Amino acid sequence: MTPRRPLVAGNWKMNGLLASLAEIAAMGGVYDAPLRARLELVVCPPATLIGMAVDIATQASIGLGGQDCHTAPAGAHTGDISAEMLKDIGAAYVIVGHSERRAGHGETDALVQEKAAAALRAGLTPIICVGETRAERDAGDALTVVGAQIAGSLPADAPGSIVVAYEPVWAIGTGLTPTVADVAQMHAFARERVEARLGGGKSASVRILYGGSVKPSNARDLLSVANVDGALVGGASLAAKDFMAIADAY
Ligand code: G3P
Repeated sequence: MTPRRPLVAGNWKMNGLLASLAEIAAMGGVYDAPLRARLELVVCPPATLIGMAVDIATQASIGLGGQDCHTAPAGAHTGDISAEMLKDIGAAYVIVGHSERRAGHGETDALVQEKAAAALRAGLTPIICVGETRAERDAGDALTVVGAQIAGSLPADAPGSIVVAYEPVWAIGTGLTPTVADVAQMHAFARERVEARLGGGKSASVRILYGGSVKPSNARDLLSVANVDGALVGGASLAAKDFMAIADAY
């Protein structure tokens, strides 16, 4: 069991309509006092649902997060959402640098770092995603790639309250996962790189989540690995039953 308070976060990606709020309510029904004592639960629905999820989530002690933010607090950026807006509407977290944004929107480490800094300025906790592609792992470059992403994507003056999510790109939505040994190696390495970036012993409190095809059937194995402080769950976070079974693996 990690010395840090485990965090199980759900990334709904571009999924969820009004009816999906019932899933958050159902999660609340399972997130009872003993489970709350064991771990923190966060859901990152699409921005369209955050405002309407606030009452349900607050009553259930479930945190809310956005899935991306702009680097500026406000301005002429059609279609974008600022960290301040997410904070204003009731979010406490925001995912930045997800591989789907790095690949689909050309986000670089430098931009991800700016977004993480914007989140911190707004009073949000950034969940900063890193992870190698299949080709990079096959070439033996997984550690190098993730090390560089950590150095480039974390603001150097970030506090130890930030969250890092290791999500191997090839494990996202594929049903594939790294071996427990590979996860252990990567998470130990990631913590060392976070320390090299932030310094001052801050890495001891940074939660490093694993993400990529986490399911009820593999959650216990993945979450029991040293330096794994929780999970960032995609597909399996859409249904309360699966998401809470993952949380219960702690
Ligand atoms: O951010 C979570 C994610 O990318 C993992 O997705 O569907 O493989 O759990 P999934």
